[in-house]
Amino acid sequence: MLVLGIETSCDETSCAVVSDKKEILSNVVFSQIDLHKIYGGVVPELAARAHSEYIDKIIIDSLKTADVDFCDLDAVAAVSGPGLIGGVVVGMTAGKAIALANNKPFIAVNHLEGHALTARLTNDLEFPYLLLLTSGGHTQIILVKSVGNYEILGSTIDDAAGEAFDKTAKLLEVGYPGGPAIEKLIEEYAGDENKYNLSPPMFNKPNAMFSFSGLKTQVRNLIEKINPDDKDNKTKADIAASFQNAVVKSMINRIEFAFNRSDIIDLDIKNLVVAGGVAANKKLRGELNNLCSKHNKNFIAPPFKLCTDNGAMIAWAGIENLRKGKTSSLDFKPRPRWPIDEL
Ligand code: KG4
Ligand code: ZN
Repeated sequence: MLVLGIETSCDETSCAVVSDKKEILSNVVFSQIDLHKIYGGVVPELAARAHSEYIDKIIIDSLKTADVDFCDLDAVAAVSGPGLIGGVVVGMTAGKAIALANNKPFIAVNHLEGHALTARLTNDLEFPYLLLLTSGGHTQIILVKSVGNYEILGSTIDDAAGEAFDKTAKLLEVGYPGGPAIEKLIEEYAGDENKYNLSPPMFNKPNAMFSFSGLKTQVRNLIEKINPDDKDNKTKADIAASFQNAVVKSMINRIEFAFNRSDIIDLDIKNLVVAGGVAANKKLRGELNNLCSKHNKNFIAPPFKLCTDNGAMIAWAGIENLRKGKTSSLDFKPRPRWPIDEL
């Protein structure tokens, strides 16, 4: 079975061909980072225009790389939400048009379900498992029970973790996207994570929720207190490292709460999966690994290019849905807001 997957919900225009034998025949990703960089964040209108400009080329490239034609496909899957409406409309319309013209089934894929199921494409992974989804738009702990069956154990009450990295990088004037810029700063100037005492948000709260906007305010107050003459790269690296330490401590604490929930213990969950751009963070990965060893669980981190937004995850979610006989009608409406537990 071969499925074409289209992803356009944020700032990556991507298309992939994936088989039900877990072969990624192609996964072409065009990142719009350079377009949005000067604004310090994704500009929805620019993103939508760029998606519509590049989508045809990316689709053709992915078919050529996979050496298949439209007629070889068994179905077409396209991201249909949640995300920036302009981009979602572009990808979904392209997917529907290909499905209609070639008389193939169409599958409207939830972007978060794409992230949630990726680890089953890269690993031999059985349900149920826990997923930490951490990107620029989402920070959630999800119990993945089966295809289409998800329970959100915790999510953020304000900013996502990636957003906190981006905003802190802006305050430190080190560029966009913030996560990689902050990691580089810490590495280059040997940032000391114990230099400043920033409290990890939600620490030991009796739930699995996240919050990051208060931490961003702690960073802003700290920067304002420092004499401008002392704001050298080493000082910035110390602030960045202290910030990163607080984020990671908070995340580990929240996941540990989820691990210790009685229903999670009863389910005897064996695996923790991580997905989303923030999953690239080395400190977070290291600490997640330690946490899983402590709780006797496997830590599964798909390759970075499959953790961030890509067409292969949409194609794979399409395959998983198709196997269950789930397809969508061509009048499926785009859903800018589409919580994963509403599937
Ligand atoms: O999943 P993603 O590529 O796009 C969406 O937000 O959907 O995630 C991007 C986010 C950005 O906020 C970026 O700063 C963050 O992931 N990020 C990181 C790292 N690499 C990317 N955050 C921390 N450490 C990193 N190494
Ligand atoms: Zn994403």
